[in-house]
This record gives sequence, C-alpha cells and structure tokens, in this order.
Amino acid sequence: MSESKTLVITGATKGIGKAIAQKFASKGVNVAFTYNSNAEKAQELVEEWSREYGVKVKAYALNILEPEQFKRLFGEIDEDFERVDYFVSNAMIYGRAVVGGYGKFMRLKPRGLNNIYTATVDAFVLGAQEAAKRMQKVGGGAIVTMSSTGNMIYIENYAGHGTNKAAVEAMMRYAAVELGEYNIRVNAVSGGPIETDALKAFTNYEEVKAETIKRSALNRMGYPEDIAGAVWFLCSEEASWITGHTLVVDGGTSFR
Ligand SMILES: NC(=O)c1ccc[n+]([C@@H]2O[C@H](COP(=O)([O-])OP(=O)(O)OC[C@H]3O[C@@H](n4cnc5c(N)ncnc54)[C@H](OP(=O)(O)O)[C@@H]3O)[C@@H](O)[C@H]2O)c1
Repeated sequence: MSESKTLVITGATKGIGKAIAQKFASKGVNVAFTYNSNAEKAQELVEEWSREYGVKVKAYALNILEPEQFKRLFGEIDEDFERVDYFVSNAMIYGRAVVGGYGKFMRLKPRGLNNIYTATVDAFVLGAQEAAKRMQKVGGGAIVTMSSTGNMIYIENYAGHGTNKAAVEAMMRYAAVELGEYNIRVNAVSGGPIETDALKAFTNYEEVKAETIKRSALNRMGYPEDIAGAVWFLCSEEASWITGHTLVVDGGTSFR
C-alpha cells in the first residue's frame, strides 16, 4: 500500500478551499476535492497541482444541498485513492439557495435557514462519517470543519450562517468525543472575514472590508492562505493532542 496520505476536501475550486487543497498538495499529500458549478476550473487545478507538486489530484462533483451524495462521492474516491487521512468540510452555498437565510433577523425564513443547515451541519456529518470509516482502517486521521467568527460576534445579515456555524462547532465537539477512540481528531477553524468571492457577495462588502482592516490588530484583511496554514497545523502531528477545539483565525478582529 502506498504511504502517501490523502486529503478529501469539499469546495476547493476557489477561495479558502483552494488554498487549503494547494497547501496539502505542496506538502506531498494526495488530494481528492469537490466542485459544484466550476467543473472546468476544477480540471485546471487537477492538472496544475499534479504537475507542480507531483501528487495525485482528482476532482469530483458534489452538491452539499444533497448530503446523501457523500456515499457516492466516497465510493468514487475509494476507486481512485488507497486511503483517506484528512477530511475538510469547507464548501458553502450562496445565491438563491440562501434567500431567507442571509439577511436581517426579521426577514429570515425556514427554507433559506434550512438550506444553510443542510449545507453546513448535515454536510459535515455525512462527509465526516464516510471519512471516519476510511480513517479507522488506517489507524486514525484528522477532520476539520470551517466555521466563522460570525457565530460569536454580530455580523450584519449573517444570523442564518452564524447560528449554523455555532451548530457545526457543537457537532464537531460531539464527533471529537466519539471518534477519539479511533485516533481521529476533529476540530474547527473559525475564520474572521477573508477576501473571497463569498465575502464579495455580501451586500455591504466594501464596508465589511474597511471595518476588518480597521479592527485587525495586523491592519489588513484576512486571505485564504491565512486559513490554510491553520488547517494544515490542526491536521499535522504537531496538533496530536488537540481535538474538539475551535481555532480562531481572525487577525485579532473579534476582540476589538
Ligand atoms: N470568506 C470568509 O470571509 C469566510 C470567513 C469564515 C469562514 N468562511 C467559511 O469558509 C468556507 C469557504 O468559504 P469561501 O469564502 O472560500 O467560499 P467561496 O470562495 O465562495 O467558495 C465556495 C466553494 O463552495 C463550493 N460550492 C458552492 N455551492 C456548493 C454546493 N451547492 N455544493 C457543493 N459545493 C458548493 C464552490 O464550488 P464551485 O465553484 O464549483 O461552485 C466553491 O468551491 C465556508 O464554509 C465559509 O463559511 C469564510
């Protein structure tokens, strides 16, 4: 059996997921990542990272609004990769799917809220279950879910996402307790505002950006690479006794 470890990550065509996948590939880890609408971009990244880092990279279609797809996804990954060592639940929905979920409190509606729950909590649960089954076979692994500081501090229009990020952090802690006996660690990275398309979709993006720079002790925006390093650390042996933990990566913005 090949000794090369494998990362499975959702939503790595751009933004934070792309930076995480690239970080792992640059460290010699094979990468199985998912895309939703950007099949062409996904294929470009497969070719680029395979060439640049000499690791195995494959892309798979996945819609996190249908989390039962995780079974099929991992079945396909089993055909292409010998093992699964790391799983990162990163993808997030936007646009029409979040109508009624992204907005002020008095405008929230069950459909949008439920879609965000499905994409955040259900996707983490179903993905982590499939990953954990494979990790048990190789003696352990590490799982990370993306969270956001919008579950601790007020961000305009973010009630639907913020509450579901709080929920996924709680679910992460339950998973950590129950998967510990298999030597599987489970953690979250809670990001402050990071310059990605998702943030640019905020109706008040310019304001959020200016406020982030002002609040950050480091006087700058967060970038996807700032998150990738934290995820890599949590998956590495350097974090061997860290589990059930949320690592806040926010440039100091939440305290101010
Ligand atoms: N940006 C921030 O300020 C920030 C801060 C804290 C936490 N986060 C969290 O970090 C994670 C990544 O966010 P990001 O800002 O990097 O987002 P992004 O740049 O908008 O990327 C979103 C990714 O999710 C995929 N995706 C979209 N809809 C999907 C669906 N229905 N099913 C499966 N995949 C889907 C996209 O794939 P396609 O391109 O193929 O459609 C893309 O790869 C999210 O969990 C987010 O909540 C972000």
